[in-house]
Amino acid sequence: MEKMVVQGGHQLNGEVSASGAKNSALILLFASLLAEGKHRFSNVPQLMDVDSAANLLHSLGCETKRDGSNFEVLVRRPKSMEAHYDLVRKMRASILCLGPLLAKYGEAVVSLPGGCAIGTRPIDLHLEGMKALGAEIILEDGYVKAKAKKLKAATFLFETVTVGGTENIMMAASLAEGTTVMENAAKEPEIVDLANYLNKMGAKIKGAGTSVITIEGVSELKPANHTVMADRIEAGTLVIAGAITGGEVTVKDIRPEWIDSLTFKLKEAGFKISITDNSVTVHKNKSWRAVDINTAPYPLFPTDLQAQFMSLMTVAEGTSVIGETVFENRFMHVQELCRMGADITPKTRVAVIRGKPGGLSGAPVMATDLRASACLVLAGLAARGETSVGRIYHLDRGYEKLEAKLAKLGASVKRLG
Ligand code: EPZ
Repeated sequence: MEKMVVQGGHQLNGEVSASGAKNSALILLFASLLAEGKHRFSNVPQLMDVDSAANLLHSLGCETKRDGSNFEVLVRRPKSMEAHYDLVRKMRASILCLGPLLAKYGEAVVSLPGGCAIGTRPIDLHLEGMKALGAEIILEDGYVKAKAKKLKAATFLFETVTVGGTENIMMAASLAEGTTVMENAAKEPEIVDLANYLNKMGAKIKGAGTSVITIEGVSELKPANHTVMADRIEAGTLVIAGAITGGEVTVKDIRPEWIDSLTFKLKEAGFKISITDNSVTVHKNKSWRAVDINTAPYPLFPTDLQAQFMSLMTVAEGTSVIGETVFENRFMHVQELCRMGADITPKTRVAVIRGKPGGLSGAPVMATDLRASACLVLAGLAARGETSVGRIYHLDRGYEKLEAKLAKLGASVKRLG
């Protein structure tokens, strides 16, 4: 089993660039199904999840070609509208091919994605939205079987803010008859990136990035070219890597406002942060205070940075209370951090971290999910001695060349096995 071995105690200093955003690239690839022809993307990260998305597109009759971070998709009419379980189970975001297939071809058979380590991950709001647009939805044999002669616009209120639900309905409504209004929509930057790409394809979407999004349906969309936005979660992870080692790290090619909630909390903890229009720098710091965070939808503190921030709090001065309001089981990293000497009491959706500067010691630990694996690498950077993070394939789903980026900043990390 491949693992990452980290020697703690090295201060990270220097500059590093954020790659393209996993949580935008995946959705953009599925959105290309809305228009047959050649779509060209740049700044596409080289990640296992992107490979999984490409495999699903291949199963739907598309051809893809990658050249570095450039990625071409040739979309053709699929022979079958089925997204098979074997492909969907590898990457839950595959459910996001439902909206495009249903809107473009009037039918879609997509495997139910099932849960994952961090939660049950239901898709009820995706399906409610499709029904509101006039689709007939049947759940059978572990699949969503959806049909619709022609989707019809609707006004739809999301009971819970859902990134994927907002994206699926936005894509479906772009080819529906009439004007759809989505209320309580997700406001993540990835939603704006998707709307920008769809509008380049000829869609008429307004309000992306706010909680009310209006989609005036059109009869046809055309292939388009698009540059994927930078990965704000990777950028935040790299900023925390600098912070936890007390070094000075600048993350480039990122819009600072995308991680405002993180930098606000770092400043509250006593870090000096400076920004330009496309970079964030955390400055050298010998000690920092414990601060409380609650995860919530954008623009509040992102759940995808909760584990990484917890690592930082384990070696802060004082006690931090971390609330995880988005997912019901996103503390899988807590026990592994405790094996490294952290003093954490996890409750349901809340964890109390009694920080102790220098309190982490290296140990063999196990990654359980994508962001937990990043959190354990960060803890390893600050721990005394060696930390080996097992099941590191979790990390490869969402971080492009992380060990090379950390090594460039002065970390001692290597991959074994
Ligand atoms: C996206 O997942 C991201 N994934 C997640 O990133 C991220 O953690 C999450 O948004 C929240 O920001 C991608 O973009 C590919 P949600 P998504 O629908 O869309 C509930 C990572 O580490 N809900 O916004 O699946 C759900 O249970 C991953 O990169 C319903 O109840 O998240 C959760 O409690 C992990 N019914 C809440 O909404 C639904 O139909 C937010 O989930 C849909 C969601």
